[in-house]
Amino acid sequence: MAGKGGRLAGKRCFVSAAGQGIGRSIAEAFAAEGAEVVAADLRFADDVLPPGVERLILDVTDDAALADAVRAAGAVSVLVNCVGKVASGTILDAPLDELDDSYRLNVRSTAAVIRAFLPGMIERGDGSIINIASVVSSVMAAPGRFAYASTKAAVIGLTMSVALDFVKSGIRCNAISPGTVETPSLHDRWAATGDIEAARAAFVARQPMGRLGAPDEIAAAAILLASDEARFMTGANMVIDGGMSL
Ligand SMILES: NC(=O)c1ccc[n+]([C@@H]2O[C@H](COP(=O)([O-])OP(=O)(O)OC[C@H]3O[C@@H](n4cnc5c(N)ncnc54)[C@H](O)[C@@H]3O)[C@@H](O)[C@H]2O)c1
Repeated sequence: MAGKGGRLAGKRCFVSAAGQGIGRSIAEAFAAEGAEVVAADLRFADDVLPPGVERLILDVTDDAALADAVRAAGAVSVLVNCVGKVASGTILDAPLDELDDSYRLNVRSTAAVIRAFLPGMIERGDGSIINIASVVSSVMAAPGRFAYASTKAAVIGLTMSVALDFVKSGIRCNAISPGTVETPSLHDRWAATGDIEAARAAFVARQPMGRLGAPDEIAAAAILLASDEARFMTGANMVIDGGMSL
């Protein structure tokens, strides 16, 4: 299907954090819908990328490397900012520096990637920017996630700001706020507790649907936002959490 037909046929897309997890699933789903995809990450879990997906090793916090990557990527009309880190701790037990680190990765790098691609999108009058926030943000709190929630709330604010400022330039900017999605980093967090099965059970217990989300359930929404079907959507925050925040 890649390259021909599909809901994203003819669109060139850039997806950050595409080495694994949600970003990887979005990159593969976009290619399956006919897009050409530049998949950027610090590292890739494996070398098996489907046709239509180009691999790019990139640290999105490196402004010079980002500028080179944007030049090489060409006429991108869909940008997915998926990079993010989950820091643990309350406002009292996490060092304040953790807030700076989380801000640098979750918010500043998102802003930097948007700034790098936006002028080209405005020139062509065509752009869909999708920022992966989190339901743990301005939507709901979770225990011990002070830096994460603060910075993901900022991603939602950044999304609305970009959406409003460039609404007349053919640019749409939306956020997706996933609930708990089973990805390699979630497995790492379970492993760090020392009891993977107990940690999994605790995460599942807070899910009204009795299960975690899958990366392709987030990718399905990203396809919609990337496509022309969502041409009247901008500044939205799509919560996809199996009812977790209800
Ligand atoms: N998994 C969840 O339950 C969940 C829930 C809500 C929101 N999110 C958000 O979704 C996004 C992806 O989450 P995930 O669980 O799939 O992630 P993950 O941790 O499994 O993968 C993240 C990827 O980001 C890459 N990365 C990290 N720093 C980078 C940098 N500086 N430059 C380029 N790439 C970098 C990593 O190499 C990794 O491949 C994150 O923003 C996360 O906060 C995840």
